[in-house]
Amino acid sequence: MIKLNTHYADLKESYLFYNIAQKTKAYLEENPDQHLYRMGIGDVSLPLCGAVIEALREAVEDQGKKESFHGYMPECGAPVLRQTVAEYYGKRGVTISDQEVFVSSGASDELGDILDLFCPESNALVIEPAYPAYVDANIMEGRKIIHLASSKENGFLPEPDENLKADLIYLCSPNNPTGAVFSREQLQKWVDYANQKGAIILFDAAYEAFIEEPDLPHSIFELDGARTCAIEICSLSKTAGFTGTRLGYTIIPKELERGGLNINSMWVRNRTTKTNGVSYILQKGGAAVFTPRGQQEVRANIQVYKKNAAVLMEALDQCGIWYCGGKNAPYIWMQCPKGMGSWEFFDYLLREIQVVGTPGEGFGACGEGYFRFSTFGSPEDTKEAARRLCTLLGGK
Ligand SMILES: Cc1ncc(COP(=O)(O)O)c(C=O)c1O
Repeated sequence: MIKLNTHYADLKESYLFYNIAQKTKAYLEENPDQHLYRMGIGDVSLPLCGAVIEALREAVEDQGKKESFHGYMPECGAPVLRQTVAEYYGKRGVTISDQEVFVSSGASDELGDILDLFCPESNALVIEPAYPAYVDANIMEGRKIIHLASSKENGFLPEPDENLKADLIYLCSPNNPTGAVFSREQLQKWVDYANQKGAIILFDAAYEAFIEEPDLPHSIFELDGARTCAIEICSLSKTAGFTGTRLGYTIIPKELERGGLNINSMWVRNRTTKTNGVSYILQKGGAAVFTPRGQQEVRANIQVYKKNAAVLMEALDQCGIWYCGGKNAPYIWMQCPKGMGSWEFFDYLLREIQVVGTPGEGFGACGEGYFRFSTFGSPEDTKEAARRLCTLLGGK
């Protein structure tokens, strides 16, 4: 009889979004006239921008004409999009060649697929609270997880510890769920650590477009030595509203090698074996994000989310509540007031002011006592939620 991958039995049930859905459903059944202010889920609410829609339409038309029809696309990405992404990095002073850019169907897919490159005996270090997929994707392959707890004391941005024997290191900056962003100095310490230990950093840059402070790194490749220890995974999901459209890109430098094997070449081999590329239509739509018009339009959408963040941060400031994030990230990570637990605070907000957020405990044990607000909701709902929050928590 076939033997299954029994590591699936090692996965813990994820109750976070299920519980949120159950609790909000039950509340609405009891209070059918109430409107809920949903600031829990990290999905965007604004539609794709005009430049992208036009490009997608054109691409559909192209596919209907013999002279512009495209069949299979190159597995690692359309040359024009690979070049465009390389130029996007170039504008920030980071030299990347088109051969180091791999077009993907999104960061989630890539975060799972890339694990093919690492043997199950290697371990994975995950800084918690964390995006839950980092842990689960490794458990499915039997990899041991090193949970590195972060805290308010280190601004949820811990430093590498000499005693940790990490092989694969997940860094997410700007961070989901905490919204914290590594400074250059902090990130450099991780790069140096990885080079010294022969580890590899998987740098999740899904929220880089939300960084507004000029000194913060958008890419790990802005740091010295990153080309010999890092893979960067990025996505157009939050940058350009592609959550339901699906497109991302991964950067693997040519210099990245371990044990005599070249990781860029391994990934080319992986993609050419396991995929037939991302659809022409989506790649044409994605390329439009990087045109001057596309950049202007996606930045305008990001500004809407940033205004939501500002409104919420102002409310929390007025209430004297500690939080991080918001400024350079679409998430605000607040400490629950009066020593409340994450789920206790969730219930309190739902019951008293009909505001829905995400309990921090769902992102790892050290998230207990914290709460995440997403700023991807509508400005009207966010304003009203902030007003209610302020009144409830004793702001001025
Ligand atoms: C940190 C982080 N990485 C990756 C993803 C997944 O992005 P994608 O939509 O490109 O799969 C998300 C989505 O919320 C995320 O928060």
